[in-house]
Amino acid sequence: MHDDALLAEQMAYYNSGAAEYDRPYAEYEDLQKLLAAVDDLPIAGDVLELACGTGQWTPRLAARAHSVTAVDASPEVLALARARTAAPTVQFLEVDLFEWQPPRRYDTVFFAFWLSHVPPTRLPDFWNTVATALAPGGKAIFIDDGPAAAAHEEVVADQPVPAALRRLDDGSQYRIVKVFHDAQTLTDDLTALGWSVRIRSMAGNFIGIAEPPTTPD
Ligand SMILES: C[S@@+](CC[C@H](N)C(=O)[O-])C[C@H]1O[C@@H](n2cnc3c(N)ncnc32)[C@H](O)[C@@H]1O
Repeated sequence: MHDDALLAEQMAYYNSGAAEYDRPYAEYEDLQKLLAAVDDLPIAGDVLELACGTGQWTPRLAARAHSVTAVDASPEVLALARARTAAPTVQFLEVDLFEWQPPRRYDTVFFAFWLSHVPPTRLPDFWNTVATALAPGGKAIFIDDGPAAAAHEEVVADQPVPAALRRLDDGSQYRIVKVFHDAQTLTDDLTALGWSVRIRSMAGNFIGIAEPPTTPD
């Protein structure tokens, strides 16, 4: 597709930068507060965590869940996640989320800082995949950057999809997909797709809780 090269570059960024990934979590108090907010979210039952990264959220999910299946495409970040979370109820899988279909249903589908990496043209399919991954009564819970975060990114113009430039310590540069969703627009878009959704802002981020239109048997 028109965005394949950008998605490959995004993957390369996370593979090459795995060792640097956790730095903002150590440096920014807002991110620590956001992590703590998970404890008040309706995480329950069997949880699917999309794009789990180095597993910053995984132990907090595991503490509330019956089981966690945490997936990511990067073997490098998954190695760090496995080292961080050794609970027997947590399973890590290496999958490309633009190819993979969940083989079963879950009570909660959780994703932090992943939605902003999904190209807009792929969003309807993405939300459909999330809907079909949810068991009856299940919820999608998602956290991401709002528009204010754009001030801290090098936005790159004239790309096939909204993109930003990220740099690693060795000077290498990578384009990533970065869509700064506005809470109201995202609410309207999801509502138009038939979801029931509540999105609240927290510092420059947002937290969404959504139930799919119908849950087929
Ligand atoms: C911004 S990080 C979020 C990580 C974690 N959820 C967090 O909040 O700390 C985005 C993650 O998406 C993963 N990723 C990128 N492309 C992917 C793909 N096609 N399929 C699955 N994961 C992908 C990266 O490896 C990275 O771990």
